[in-house]
Amino acid sequence: MAEPRLAEHAVDKLFIERTSPRSFTGEAIPDEVLFSMFEAARWAPSASNIQPWRLIYAKAGSPQWSGLFDCLMPGNQVWVAKASALVAFVAETHRRQGETRAENRTHALDTGAAWMSLALQAELLGWATHGMAGFHHDKARAALALPEDFDVYMFAAIGKRAAAEALPPELAAREVPSPRRHLAETVFLGRFG
Ligand SMILES: Cc1cc2nc3c(=O)[nH]c(=O)nc-3n(C[C@H](O)[C@H](O)[C@H](O)COP(=O)(O)O)c2cc1C
Repeated sequence: MAEPRLAEHAVDKLFIERTSPRSFTGEAIPDEVLFSMFEAARWAPSASNIQPWRLIYAKAGSPQWSGLFDCLMPGNQVWVAKASALVAFVAETHRRQGETRAENRTHALDTGAAWMSLALQAELLGWATHGMAGFHHDKARAALALPEDFDVYMFAAIGKRAAAEALPPELAAREVPSPRRHLAETVFLGRFG
């Protein structure tokens, strides 16, 4: 039985009902749908409006698909095989100004904001996303042809939800909405804890 996702305060159901499924239909995703998600990511906020993220994508069945798919850990490949698109979230870690090269300390944070914007727009359009840190880092760097000062943080599978029963039993059992700790364990007034 799925553990219910109960909000402790008023919040739009978009935030509660977004989940990361593993069961996808495998249907083709139209460009207009995919680029609507990319557009949402585009408008994410970032420190000094640097927009350190870059998104590298491939649609299932396209010549680019295996380049991204082959970077994933086998445990993710099992279910990503039925996704409609893959997106790698990469970020520029450093900035150069003349002779100086300095780390952008918020590059990963900003890229996370872009990822979440994409995920929520996908949800609004009736599609689902599933983020993955389970990929081969060095392989991904090479496959994505990353320039210096860029790093890869996450892959996301995008697809239309399918029935849990379409998955192998051990994965189907995980196809339930996950809980969250109580807000009081996350939000503090004035100082930690
Ligand atoms: C950065 C990141 C990396 C993740 N890596 C994986 C992964 O490699 N494989 C996987 O099956 N799920 C992965 N997940 C999915 C999380 O396990 C999932 O988001 C979390 O359990 C909360 O569930 P929900 O997204 O359905 O709310 C990842 C999620 C994020 C945000």
